[in-house]
Parts: sequence; structure tokens; C-alpha cells
Amino acid sequence: MSNYHIKNLEEYFAVYRKSIRQPELFWQEVAEEHFVWRKRWSKVLSWDFNKPEIKWFEGAQLNITENCIDRHLNTKADKTAFLFEPNDPKEPAQHITYQQLYERVNKMANVLKSQGIQKGDRVCIYLPMIPELAMAVLACARIGAVHSVVFAGFSAGALATRINDCDARMVITSDGSFRGNKTIDLKGIVDDALEHCPGTSSVLVVERTKNKVTMKPGRDQWLAPLLEGADVHCTPEWMDAEDPLFILYTSGSTGKPKGMLHTTAGYMVYTAYTFKNVFQHQSEDVYWCTADIGWITGHSYIVYGPLANGATTVLFEGIPSYPDFSRFWDVIDKHKITQLYTAPTAIRALAKERLDYVTSHDLSSLRILGTVGEPINEEAWHWYNDHIGNKRCPIVDTWWQTETGGILISPLPMITPTKPTYATLPLPGIQPVLVNENGIEITDNQVDGRLCVAFPWPSIARSIWGDHQRFKETYFTAFPGKYFTGDGALRDEVGYYRITGRVDDVIIVSGHNLGTAPIEDAINEHPAVAESAIVGFPHDIKGQALYGFIILKDTGTSRDRDNLSREINQAITEHIGPIAKLDKIQFVPGLPKTRSGKIMRRILRKIAAGETEGLGDTTTLLNPEIVEEIIQGKI
Ligand code: PRX
Repeated sequence: MSNYHIKNLEEYFAVYRKSIRQPELFWQEVAEEHFVWRKRWSKVLSWDFNKPEIKWFEGAQLNITENCIDRHLNTKADKTAFLFEPNDPKEPAQHITYQQLYERVNKMANVLKSQGIQKGDRVCIYLPMIPELAMAVLACARIGAVHSVVFAGFSAGALATRINDCDARMVITSDGSFRGNKTIDLKGIVDDALEHCPGTSSVLVVERTKNKVTMKPGRDQWLAPLLEGADVHCTPEWMDAEDPLFILYTSGSTGKPKGMLHTTAGYMVYTAYTFKNVFQHQSEDVYWCTADIGWITGHSYIVYGPLANGATTVLFEGIPSYPDFSRFWDVIDKHKITQLYTAPTAIRALAKERLDYVTSHDLSSLRILGTVGEPINEEAWHWYNDHIGNKRCPIVDTWWQTETGGILISPLPMITPTKPTYATLPLPGIQPVLVNENGIEITDNQVDGRLCVAFPWPSIARSIWGDHQRFKETYFTAFPGKYFTGDGALRDEVGYYRITGRVDDVIIVSGHNLGTAPIEDAINEHPAVAESAIVGFPHDIKGQALYGFIILKDTGTSRDRDNLSREINQAITEHIGPIAKLDKIQFVPGLPKTRSGKIMRRILRKIAAGETEGLGDTTTLLNPEIVEEIIQGKI
């Protein structure tokens, strides 16, 4: 029996048992079976969730790009590694082979070196979904630089915060990005951001849209001419197992975004292992994850996991609605996609459109469907199952987080019987526990609890960049000795997990994690605003959307208020990005607060959802009368 690849349910249970009883032995065998190491580890695992400190494969040396690229050259040099599908379907797709990937990554790595980037330096990557994005990520990993990819939909303000937080010396960007029929001036956004980033001395610019940009002498350089002269060989930097691989920012319920720090060996082992099993990868597959590399899904399951398995992985620059709503189905038909991994929000949006967008395409190449990022509702699950999978493709509802690095709970396709809305069973090595708010373990079925994990797995984040104390407080303090996910979940009678949603002030909109605090800060900066509170409310397509309760300094006329609503969303777009815009804005005379001054979001959530009956106990409020005033729409 292979430790690396689970082939049936019996094997899953046997492997799972072993991974819990002898986790070190289990992961050691996985690590030995599949990867290339320059130096073997001296210890598989040491951990202490109280400090917290977690180390996997200590003493080992490796380079993740040797595992993702070099070692495939003997057998797969001419196999497509990345299949690039551009925004415009009329632009030809590009097949980038493992040999070409090797050469392009090495050239880029040599360029980074020639610009003075060294092991441990942080490089911020702010690029659209073009091959250079993946190359830049891998080039950093090749030389031991720490990449920090910022999703190219974030605004200049959000980008600047992230650049400064990790003190990135260099930014890699492009002249612009295509998004449907729009062109976005990415370089202009970088220029604005860098006004506030004194530590960034160098910007490399990829040419993509050919729109006019300003190049700042001494700081900005076009990438292409630098690549031309670069050598196609670059000896990998040998990294210690626990050397940082990347930082990726995720929203917290309070404060600035958290730079989740992932390290090298454990992340590689876990993402590769889970990719193989959750997608039952076979060598001829053409696998497509529609996420952006700016999110963890793209890091782990477009780049590292697939490449570590020698897979063909699609890089999609476009959006589901351009040139029309058949784009996904067209890409599947055109490239004979075998696995499609996407977000429930995309499924819901596409399910609303005419069915002939789907039926006019041949989707018979599909074998496995996946979802990620938010709970999938039953209706969307069935539509996906019936119309995309034609009832013959298992759906893997994969639950995980930026912090977990890889998928923790998911069915194994063709192996674990699926159940709509359930992420089902933990993967090997994962020990989920449900606790109540006092930390007491819930053993009953169908009881909603807080989802924790009792034991480390190889790809758990090791820290928050520059703020280990916050790492401890956010994840390891509420329930000592356990990693707390921030999610609610329940378990059914056979042990399947259903994720019910966040239990903190993080709101998941269209699969994007948004913290309420930075949005409220952006709103409160508007001179007309006295105070604000953001909550989520159910939305047909986005899953959750944002509802803003806003107190004005001066209520003015209704025309003033319409203008204000627009300005508020504009301010949010500038501070964070369009993904954080409010769907509904209600101007209110006050906000329900506890005697200690905390906003009672529970009540606002109910009002936003239209559930104004049974608001629960409001007597502990400092200002109980405000609840009725908000319901009546007083301003
Ligand atoms: O609430 C959970 C939700 O997304 C959160 C993590 O978001 P992020 O760090 O951006 O990573 C998203 C991609 C892994 C989780 O805390 N979530 C993720 N997957 C699922 C989910 N909720 C329900 N079902 C899922 N399959």
C-alpha cells in the first residue's frame, strides 16, 4: 500500500488511523516516498500549541522548486506544466512545458538575484493571472526570497499596507491587467501605493496590456529586457525545512491584515499529498482551479500542489462572464478539463444563467468537481452535480483556510460517499474537534460547535509575520492546546462535518474573507460619518453580502444621502478594493451597544437579514430603544 496515494475507502480508514496513532511515522513515510531532499530531517515533528511553536522535518534541506520542476525533467520535460488561457478567448492559449517552466523560472530567479534580492528578502508580487505571476512565485522560491502575493484587485491603500507590513524590497507588477472588457492600470496603483512605502527600492514591470505607464527612473524597470540576458540555469538555494516560503495576507476580525507565514518542507509535503488525493490526480489529467494565485487556493492548488505532482495546471486570466456566461464551459470543452475546482459563488452566478450556455458544450472530459471558500448551499450543489457533472462526477467540498495551507476536510472523490453541504471527513493527519464556547468538547451529533484542530499538520501556518503574539491570541488562546479555526461546524451520525460559517467578525463575500474593522475604518474616514458597523446578510449569489449601518454627523436631505452612499463605496474601493463594497447602506440614528460600549452585531445581523422578530435579549443594551428605531428606518 502506498502511503502517498489512497485508492479506496478501506485504505482511507487504515491510513487515517495510522496518521492519528503514529503521525510522525505516517508523515515521514509520505515525505520519503514522494519528494527530493538534499539533506534528511533529524526530527519529524516538534510542537507546542501553547507557545505556539510548530516544526516539521527539522534539519532537512530542500528546495521546493527542485521538487516542483527539476525532478520532472527526466520524464516530463515536454509535458505541459501550465496551460495559460488568456482573458480574451481569441488570444491563443499557451502550453508551457516543464522544460520551458524550468528555463523561465531560472531566468527570472537570475534577474531577481541581479537586482540584489537575496535569501530571506521579501518580494511583493502584484500581477494579474498571467504566466509571469507563477514564474515570479517560483523564482522567489528558487532563490529563497519570501514571496508575498497581493491579489491584483486590492487598492493602492491595501497594497501599501501589505508592502510595508512585510517590508518588501521589490514589487513585481505589470503595466495593466485585463478583466473582461476592462483594462485596469495596475502600474498606476503600484505608483500610488509606493508613495507610502519608503522601503521599496525596485519595481519590475511585465508588459501585458501595453497601456501607457510612467516609469520612475532608478526604481522601475521592464522585466522583458532583463530576462533576455539572463542565464537559463540557476542553482536552487538549499532551504532549511522551516525557512519561510511565503507570506500571504488574510483579513482578521480586527486590526490590520494578518501576514500568514508558511514555511518550506511541511507546506510542500502537505499540499502535494492533498492535491494527489483530493483530486485523485492521474498523469494525463488537465486540472483547472479557477481561483487567483493571489489567494491561498491559487498558491496551494494552482502552483505548488499540482507541480509537485507533475500535473498540468490551468492558469486562467479571465472571468466567468466574459465574453459571455459560457466561458467556463467553453474552456472545459476546449482543453478537455478533467477536474474543475471553483467557488460556490461562481456556481450560483452561473446557475442563474440560461442552461444552454452549459448544454452547448461537451463537458464529458470532467471526472471530478471541487468547491472551496464558503459553504455551498444545497441548490447550488445539485445544479453543479446535475448539470456540470452530469451526475457522474463526485463533488469534493473542500474545507480549509489561508492559515491551514492545505485542505483539511474533504471527501476523496470516488472513495468517500458525498453528502450535499457536508465537507465530510478529515484528511489523514487531521484531528478536528468541536467545542462549545467554554471549550468543552461536543460529542453529540448535529450540535453546532466551534471547529478546532487538536494536532498539528505539516502545512499549518507558523506565525503572523512580525506579530507572533497576535498569532497566539487569534488561534491558540480561546481554547488552549488547540488550533481554533474561527468557523462553526457540526457533525452528523457518521462523523461527517458540515461547516456552518464564521463565528467571528470575518464575513465571507463571494468566497473572499473580509474583516469588518478595516471596512469600518474606511467608512469612518468620510467627514460626514460619525460611526459605522458592518455585518453580513444572506445573498443569492455572493453567499453573504455586506450591510452597513452608518451614523451621520448631519442627516441632511435624501439626495445628500444618495450621494453619500456612492462616496462611501468609493472610499471603500480606494482603501480596500471593489470586493469590499457594501450592498446595502442604512443610515441610522445610533447603534445598539452593550454597557461596555461594544456594538451588538448579533442584533444588527438579524435586522440586516430581515429577521426582526425574536431579536433575543436586548435588556443588556445601553440603548435598547435604538433597535426599534433602526427597524423603523429612522435616521
Ligand atoms: O469560513 C471558512 C470558509 O473560508 C474561510 C477561509 O477563508 P480563506 O482563508 O480566504 O481561504 C479560502 C480558501 C481555502 C474558512 O474559515 N471556507 C473555506 N472553505 C469552505 C469554507 N466554508 C465552508 N465550506 C468550505 N468548503
